[in-house]
Amino acid sequence: MHGKPDAISDPSAFSKSVVSPLRYPGAKRQLVPIIEQIIKGNIPPPRLFVEPFCGGASTALRLVGTGVVERAILADTDDLVSSFWYTAAFDTGWLINRMLEVEVTVAKWEWFRMFEPRGRRDRALKCLFLNRTTFSGILHGRAGPIGGKKQTEHTNYKIDCRFNKEGLAARLRAIGELGNTGRILDVWDSDWRDTLSRVEREHGERLTRDEIVVYLDPPYIEKAEFLYPWSFGKDQHRSLASTLESASSFRWLLSYDDNPLARELYRPGQEGRHVLHARHRYSAAGLKPTAEGKGKRPQREELLVTNFLDIQSSKAYHALGHPGCDACRQVDLGIGSTESHMD
Ligand SMILES: C[S@@+](CC[C@H](N)C(=O)[O-])C[C@H]1O[C@@H](n2cnc3c(N)ncnc32)[C@H](O)[C@@H]1O
Repeated sequence: MHGKPDAISDPSAFSKSVVSPLRYPGAKRQLVPIIEQIIKGNIPPPRLFVEPFCGGASTALRLVGTGVVERAILADTDDLVSSFWYTAAFDTGWLINRMLEVEVTVAKWEWFRMFEPRGRRDRALKCLFLNRTTFSGILHGRAGPIGGKKQTEHTNYKIDCRFNKEGLAARLRAIGELGNTGRILDVWDSDWRDTLSRVEREHGERLTRDEIVVYLDPPYIEKAEFLYPWSFGKDQHRSLASTLESASSFRWLLSYDDNPLARELYRPGQEGRHVLHARHRYSAAGLKPTAEGKGKRPQREELLVTNFLDIQSSKAYHALGHPGCDACRQVDLGIGSTESHMD
Protein backbone atom coordinates (compact mmCIF):
# COMPACT_ATOMS: atom_id res chain seq x y z
CA MET A 1 0.00 0.00 0.00
CA HIS A 2 2.30 2.73 -1.28
CA GLY A 3 1.29 6.16 -2.59
CA LYS A 4 -2.14 7.22 -3.74
CA PRO A 5 -4.34 4.87 -5.78
CA ASP A 6 -4.96 5.63 -9.47
CA ALA A 7 -7.84 7.92 -10.42
CA ILE A 8 -11.17 6.44 -11.42
CA SER A 9 -13.13 7.57 -14.45
CA ASP A 10 -16.42 8.57 -12.82
CA PRO A 11 -16.41 9.10 -9.04
CA SER A 12 -19.95 10.55 -9.23
CA ALA A 13 -21.22 7.03 -10.05
CA PHE A 14 -20.44 6.17 -6.43
CA SER A 15 -22.57 8.99 -5.00
CA LYS A 16 -25.73 7.30 -6.28
CA SER A 17 -28.00 5.80 -3.65
CA VAL A 18 -27.61 2.30 -5.11
CA VAL A 19 -24.09 1.17 -5.91
CA SER A 20 -23.81 -2.38 -4.60
CA PRO A 21 -24.79 -5.31 -6.84
CA LEU A 22 -25.91 -7.16 -3.67
CA ARG A 23 -29.22 -6.57 -1.93
CA TYR A 24 -28.72 -6.85 1.77
CA PRO A 25 -31.06 -7.28 4.72
CA GLY A 26 -30.18 -4.50 7.14
CA ALA A 27 -28.05 -2.57 4.66
CA LYS A 28 -27.04 0.65 6.31
CA ARG A 29 -27.03 2.79 3.21
CA GLN A 30 -28.96 5.53 4.95
CA LEU A 31 -26.14 5.94 7.45
CA VAL A 32 -23.44 6.51 4.85
CA PRO A 33 -23.78 10.34 4.82
CA ILE A 34 -23.43 10.38 8.62
CA ILE A 35 -20.42 8.11 8.55
CA GLU A 36 -18.90 10.27 5.84
CA GLN A 37 -19.49 13.39 7.94
CA ILE A 38 -17.83 11.86 11.01
CA ILE A 39 -14.82 10.67 9.00
CA LYS A 40 -14.40 14.04 7.27
CA GLY A 41 -14.59 15.84 10.63
CA ASN A 42 -11.39 14.12 11.74
CA ILE A 43 -7.89 14.81 10.50
CA PRO A 44 -5.88 13.28 8.88
CA PRO A 45 -8.17 11.68 6.29
CA PRO A 46 -8.04 7.90 6.67
CA ARG A 47 -5.97 5.94 4.19
CA LEU A 48 -7.49 2.54 4.88
CA PHE A 49 -11.15 1.68 5.44
CA VAL A 50 -11.96 -1.84 6.63
CA GLU A 51 -15.42 -3.44 6.68
CA PRO A 52 -15.25 -6.75 8.64
CA PHE A 53 -19.01 -7.53 8.24
CA CYS A 54 -19.14 -6.27 4.69
CA GLY A 55 -22.37 -7.90 3.35
CA GLY A 56 -23.51 -5.54 0.56
CA ALA A 57 -20.50 -3.28 1.32
CA SER A 58 -22.53 -0.19 0.53
CA THR A 59 -20.54 1.99 2.92
CA ALA A 60 -17.10 0.96 1.69
CA LEU A 61 -18.07 1.29 -1.98
CA ARG A 62 -19.37 4.79 -1.59
CA LEU A 63 -16.50 6.08 0.57
CA VAL A 64 -13.73 4.56 -1.51
CA GLY A 65 -15.45 5.39 -4.80
CA THR A 66 -15.90 9.07 -3.97
CA GLY A 67 -12.39 9.34 -2.52
CA VAL A 68 -13.34 10.04 1.12
CA VAL A 69 -10.98 7.18 1.97
CA GLU A 70 -8.07 6.01 -0.17
CA ARG A 71 -8.44 2.25 -0.04
CA ALA A 72 -10.75 -0.40 1.38
CA ILE A 73 -10.47 -3.97 2.59
CA LEU A 74 -13.71 -5.96 2.59
CA ALA A 75 -14.17 -9.05 4.76
CA ASP A 76 -17.01 -11.42 5.60
CA THR A 77 -17.14 -14.84 7.19
CA ASP A 78 -19.65 -16.09 4.63
CA ASP A 79 -17.50 -17.49 1.85
CA LEU A 80 -20.25 -16.92 -0.72
CA VAL A 81 -20.12 -13.21 0.11
CA SER A 82 -16.33 -12.87 0.30
CA SER A 83 -15.94 -14.87 -2.94
CA PHE A 84 -18.42 -12.57 -4.63
CA TRP A 85 -16.49 -9.43 -3.65
CA TYR A 86 -13.12 -10.90 -4.56
CA THR A 87 -14.36 -12.00 -7.97
CA ALA A 88 -16.28 -8.76 -8.61
CA ALA A 89 -13.17 -6.69 -7.83
CA PHE A 90 -10.40 -8.81 -9.36
CA ASP A 91 -12.03 -11.18 -11.88
CA THR A 92 -14.78 -8.86 -13.07
CA GLY A 93 -15.00 -9.87 -16.74
CA TRP A 94 -15.57 -13.51 -15.88
CA LEU A 95 -18.39 -12.68 -13.47
CA ILE A 96 -20.12 -10.27 -15.86
CA ASN A 97 -20.02 -12.80 -18.71
CA ARG A 98 -21.45 -15.62 -16.59
CA MET A 99 -24.11 -13.31 -15.13
CA LEU A 100 -25.19 -12.21 -18.63
CA GLU A 101 -25.50 -15.85 -19.76
CA VAL A 102 -27.41 -17.26 -16.82
CA GLU A 103 -31.12 -18.03 -17.25
CA VAL A 104 -33.16 -16.44 -14.49
CA THR A 105 -35.82 -19.09 -13.87
CA VAL A 106 -37.18 -20.99 -10.90
CA ALA A 107 -35.52 -24.17 -12.23
CA LYS A 108 -32.15 -22.39 -12.20
CA TRP A 109 -32.89 -21.04 -8.73
CA GLU A 110 -33.53 -24.63 -7.52
CA TRP A 111 -30.29 -25.70 -9.16
CA PHE A 112 -28.23 -22.97 -7.47
CA ARG A 113 -29.81 -23.75 -4.09
CA MET A 114 -28.50 -27.33 -4.32
CA PHE A 115 -25.21 -26.47 -6.02
CA GLU A 116 -22.11 -26.96 -3.88
CA PRO A 117 -19.43 -24.84 -5.52
CA ARG A 118 -15.82 -25.94 -5.19
CA GLY A 119 -14.09 -22.77 -6.35
CA ARG A 120 -14.24 -19.05 -5.71
CA ARG A 121 -15.70 -18.13 -9.11
CA ASP A 122 -18.62 -20.53 -8.72
CA ARG A 123 -19.28 -19.32 -5.19
CA ALA A 124 -19.34 -15.75 -6.51
CA LEU A 125 -21.90 -16.59 -9.20
CA LYS A 126 -24.04 -18.55 -6.75
CA CYS A 127 -23.99 -15.58 -4.36
CA LEU A 128 -25.01 -13.08 -7.01
CA PHE A 129 -27.74 -15.28 -8.48
CA LEU A 130 -29.37 -16.22 -5.18
CA ASN A 131 -29.02 -12.73 -3.72
CA ARG A 132 -30.85 -11.18 -6.69
CA THR A 133 -33.57 -13.84 -7.00
CA THR A 134 -34.38 -14.88 -3.43
CA PHE A 135 -36.86 -13.17 -1.17
CA SER A 136 -35.08 -10.33 0.70
CA GLY A 137 -31.76 -11.33 -0.85
CA ILE A 138 -31.29 -14.06 1.78
CA LEU A 139 -28.61 -16.54 0.72
CA HIS A 140 -29.20 -19.34 3.21
CA GLY A 141 -31.99 -21.19 4.98
CA ARG A 142 -35.51 -21.60 3.77
CA ALA A 143 -36.23 -18.30 2.00
CA GLY A 144 -37.89 -18.95 -1.37
CA PRO A 145 -37.55 -17.30 -4.78
CA ILE A 146 -39.09 -13.86 -5.37
CA GLY A 147 -42.69 -14.47 -6.52
CA GLY A 148 -42.82 -17.99 -5.02
CA LYS A 149 -41.97 -21.34 -6.59
CA LYS A 150 -45.12 -21.21 -8.71
CA GLN A 151 -44.56 -17.52 -9.55
CA THR A 152 -48.15 -16.74 -8.61
CA GLU A 153 -47.62 -14.85 -5.33
CA HIS A 154 -47.43 -11.38 -6.83
CA THR A 155 -48.26 -10.01 -10.25
CA ASN A 156 -45.41 -7.48 -10.34
CA TYR A 157 -42.68 -9.41 -8.52
CA LYS A 158 -41.39 -12.34 -10.54
CA ILE A 159 -38.10 -14.15 -10.08
CA ASP A 160 -36.21 -11.87 -12.48
CA CYS A 161 -37.61 -8.53 -11.24
CA ARG A 162 -34.33 -7.67 -9.45
CA PHE A 163 -32.11 -9.09 -12.18
CA ASN A 164 -31.63 -6.28 -14.67
CA LYS A 165 -28.56 -7.66 -16.42
CA GLU A 166 -27.36 -4.40 -17.97
CA GLY A 167 -27.73 -2.52 -14.68
CA LEU A 168 -25.88 -5.26 -12.80
CA ALA A 169 -23.11 -5.34 -15.41
CA ALA A 170 -22.62 -1.56 -14.95
CA ARG A 171 -22.38 -1.94 -11.17
CA LEU A 172 -19.94 -4.83 -11.55
CA ARG A 173 -17.75 -2.82 -13.96
CA ALA A 174 -17.58 -0.04 -11.36
CA ILE A 175 -16.43 -2.56 -8.72
CA GLY A 176 -13.85 -3.87 -11.20
CA GLU A 177 -12.48 -0.36 -11.58
CA LEU A 178 -12.13 -0.07 -7.81
CA GLY A 179 -10.18 -3.33 -7.90
CA ASN A 180 -7.99 -2.31 -10.88
CA THR A 181 -7.05 1.01 -9.33
CA GLY A 182 -6.13 -0.60 -6.01
CA ARG A 183 -8.97 1.18 -4.23
CA ILE A 184 -10.36 -2.18 -3.18
CA LEU A 185 -7.07 -3.36 -1.77
CA ASP A 186 -8.12 -6.87 -0.79
CA VAL A 187 -11.04 -9.10 0.15
CA TRP A 188 -10.74 -11.51 3.05
CA ASP A 189 -12.81 -14.57 3.87
CA SER A 190 -12.57 -14.18 7.60
CA ASP A 191 -14.32 -13.91 10.92
CA TRP A 192 -14.34 -10.39 12.42
CA ARG A 193 -11.76 -11.35 15.06
CA ASP A 194 -9.27 -12.55 12.44
CA THR A 195 -9.94 -9.47 10.34
CA LEU A 196 -9.15 -7.11 13.20
CA SER A 197 -5.96 -8.91 14.17
CA ARG A 198 -4.84 -9.16 10.53
CA VAL A 199 -5.38 -5.42 10.04
CA GLU A 200 -3.17 -4.73 13.06
CA ARG A 201 -0.55 -7.22 11.91
CA GLU A 202 -0.37 -6.14 8.26
CA HIS A 203 -1.05 -2.42 8.48
CA GLY A 204 -0.67 -1.36 12.10
CA GLU A 205 3.03 -0.58 11.84
CA ARG A 206 2.95 1.49 8.65
CA LEU A 207 -0.22 3.44 9.28
CA THR A 208 -1.06 5.50 12.32
CA ARG A 209 -4.14 4.91 14.40
CA ASP A 210 -5.87 7.86 12.70
CA GLU A 211 -5.16 6.53 9.21
CA ILE A 212 -7.12 3.30 9.66
CA VAL A 213 -10.92 3.27 10.09
CA VAL A 214 -12.81 0.06 10.77
CA TYR A 215 -16.57 0.23 10.15
CA LEU A 216 -18.53 -2.59 11.78
CA ASP A 217 -22.14 -3.42 11.01
CA PRO A 218 -22.66 -6.74 12.82
CA PRO A 219 -25.69 -9.00 12.21
CA TYR A 220 -29.01 -7.99 13.70
CA ILE A 221 -29.32 -8.83 17.36
CA GLU A 222 -32.84 -10.23 17.03
CA LYS A 223 -32.96 -11.78 13.59
CA ALA A 224 -29.50 -13.17 12.93
CA GLU A 225 -30.57 -16.81 13.15
CA PHE A 226 -33.03 -16.37 10.24
CA LEU A 227 -30.46 -14.80 7.97
CA TYR A 228 -27.23 -16.72 8.49
CA PRO A 229 -26.41 -20.40 8.84
CA TRP A 230 -24.28 -19.72 11.92
CA SER A 231 -25.29 -17.95 15.05
CA PHE A 232 -24.15 -14.53 16.10
CA GLY A 233 -25.50 -14.59 19.63
CA LYS A 234 -25.28 -12.26 22.60
CA ASP A 235 -21.90 -13.72 23.57
CA GLN A 236 -20.46 -12.60 20.21
CA HIS A 237 -21.91 -9.13 20.58
CA ARG A 238 -20.35 -8.93 24.06
CA SER A 239 -17.03 -10.21 22.82
CA LEU A 240 -17.01 -7.61 20.04
CA ALA A 241 -17.69 -4.86 22.59
CA SER A 242 -14.79 -5.91 24.78
CA THR A 243 -12.42 -6.26 21.81
CA LEU A 244 -13.27 -2.76 20.64
CA GLU A 245 -12.80 -1.39 24.13
CA SER A 246 -9.13 -2.32 24.01
CA ALA A 247 -8.53 -1.58 20.30
CA SER A 248 -5.73 0.95 20.15
CA SER A 249 -4.34 0.78 16.63
CA PHE A 250 -7.30 2.02 14.60
CA ARG A 251 -10.34 4.25 14.74
CA TRP A 252 -13.63 2.38 14.67
CA LEU A 253 -17.28 3.10 14.02
CA LEU A 254 -20.01 0.64 14.85
CA SER A 255 -23.68 0.72 13.84
CA TYR A 256 -26.53 -1.11 15.57
CA ASP A 257 -30.26 -1.00 15.34
CA ASP A 258 -31.14 0.74 18.59
CA ASN A 259 -32.03 -1.96 21.11
CA PRO A 260 -31.47 -2.76 24.81
CA LEU A 261 -28.45 -5.04 24.38
CA ALA A 262 -26.61 -2.49 22.24
CA ARG A 263 -27.40 0.21 24.80
CA GLU A 264 -26.15 -2.02 27.61
CA LEU A 265 -22.90 -2.83 25.79
CA TYR A 266 -22.16 0.71 24.68
CA ARG A 267 -23.10 3.03 27.51
CA PRO A 268 -22.60 6.71 26.93
CA GLY A 269 -20.13 8.59 29.08
CA GLN A 270 -17.19 6.18 28.76
CA GLU A 271 -13.92 7.92 28.14
CA GLY A 272 -12.77 8.10 24.54
CA ARG A 273 -16.12 6.98 23.16
CA HIS A 274 -19.18 8.63 21.65
CA VAL A 275 -22.60 6.99 21.44
CA LEU A 276 -24.84 8.70 18.90
CA HIS A 277 -28.51 8.20 18.22
CA ALA A 278 -29.82 8.70 14.68
CA ARG A 279 -33.34 8.34 13.42
CA HIS A 280 -34.40 8.28 9.83
CA ARG A 281 -37.30 7.36 7.65
CA TYR A 282 -36.87 5.42 4.46
CA SER A 283 -39.21 4.53 1.64
CA ALA A 284 -39.70 0.82 1.22
CA ALA A 285 -41.19 -0.79 -1.83
CA GLY A 286 -44.79 -1.97 -1.59
CA LEU A 287 -46.07 0.49 1.03
CA LYS A 288 -49.84 0.91 1.07
CA PRO A 289 -51.08 4.48 0.40
CA THR A 290 -52.61 6.32 3.37
CA ALA A 291 -55.65 8.65 3.30
CA GLU A 292 -53.28 11.43 2.16
CA GLY A 293 -52.31 9.25 -0.75
CA LYS A 294 -48.73 8.63 0.35
CA GLY A 295 -47.26 5.53 1.96
CA LYS A 296 -46.06 6.28 5.51
CA ARG A 297 -42.36 5.68 5.47
CA PRO A 298 -41.08 3.27 8.12
CA GLN A 299 -38.78 4.71 10.71
CA ARG A 300 -35.49 3.32 11.82
CA GLU A 301 -33.59 4.05 15.00
CA GLU A 302 -29.85 3.49 14.94
CA LEU A 303 -26.99 3.72 17.37
CA LEU A 304 -23.58 4.73 16.15
CA VAL A 305 -20.67 4.18 18.50
CA THR A 306 -17.16 5.40 17.81
CA ASN A 307 -13.76 6.11 19.26
CA PHE A 308 -13.21 9.02 16.84
CA LEU A 309 -12.16 12.02 18.88
CA ASP A 310 -14.00 14.89 17.21
CA ILE A 311 -17.73 14.57 16.72
CA GLN A 312 -19.25 17.70 15.28
CA SER A 313 -22.78 18.63 16.16
CA SER A 314 -25.27 17.71 13.47
CA LYS A 315 -29.00 17.62 12.80
CA ALA A 316 -28.56 14.01 11.75
CA TYR A 317 -27.75 12.62 15.23
CA HIS A 318 -27.63 13.39 18.93
CA ALA A 319 -25.11 12.22 21.47
CA LEU A 320 -26.80 9.85 23.91
CA GLY A 321 -26.57 11.05 27.46
CA HIS A 322 -26.47 14.61 26.19
CA PRO A 323 -29.12 16.80 27.87
CA GLY A 324 -30.77 17.46 24.48
CA CYS A 325 -31.00 13.78 23.66
CA ASP A 326 -34.66 13.21 24.52
CA ALA A 327 -35.54 15.98 22.14
CA CYS A 328 -34.15 13.96 19.26
CA ARG A 329 -36.93 11.43 19.80
CA GLN A 330 -39.44 14.10 18.76
CA VAL A 331 -37.75 15.03 15.55
CA ASP A 332 -38.16 13.36 12.20
CA LEU A 333 -34.71 13.89 10.85
CA GLY A 334 -35.86 12.99 7.37
CA ILE A 335 -32.44 11.93 6.08
CA GLY A 336 -31.59 9.08 3.81
CA SER A 337 -34.86 8.77 1.97
CA THR A 338 -34.28 6.35 -0.86
CA GLU A 339 -36.52 4.48 -3.21
CA SER A 340 -36.03 1.24 -1.36
CA HIS A 341 -33.48 0.01 1.15
CA MET A 342 -33.11 -3.27 -0.70
CA ASP A 343 -32.51 -2.49 -4.37
C1 LIG B 1 -25.81 -6.81 8.81
S1 LIG B 1 -24.88 -7.62 7.53
C2 LIG B 1 -23.87 -6.32 6.99
C3 LIG B 1 -24.58 -5.46 6.03
C4 LIG B 1 -23.69 -4.44 5.37
N1 LIG B 1 -23.20 -3.47 6.31
C5 LIG B 1 -24.46 -3.74 4.27
O1 LIG B 1 -24.68 -2.54 4.34
O2 LIG B 1 -24.86 -4.43 3.34
C6 LIG B 1 -23.86 -8.66 8.41
C7 LIG B 1 -22.81 -9.44 7.61
O3 LIG B 1 -21.97 -10.02 8.59
C8 LIG B 1 -21.55 -11.29 8.15
N2 LIG B 1 -21.14 -12.04 9.35
C9 LIG B 1 -21.91 -12.74 10.23
N3 LIG B 1 -21.17 -13.24 11.22
C10 LIG B 1 -19.89 -12.84 10.99
C11 LIG B 1 -18.64 -13.03 11.67
N4 LIG B 1 -18.58 -13.77 12.79
N5 LIG B 1 -17.53 -12.45 11.17
C12 LIG B 1 -17.58 -11.74 10.00
N6 LIG B 1 -18.73 -11.55 9.29
C13 LIG B 1 -19.87 -12.08 9.80
C14 LIG B 1 -22.74 -11.87 7.42
O4 LIG B 1 -22.33 -12.86 6.49
C15 LIG B 1 -23.32 -10.60 6.77
O5 LIG B 1 -22.83 -10.48 5.45
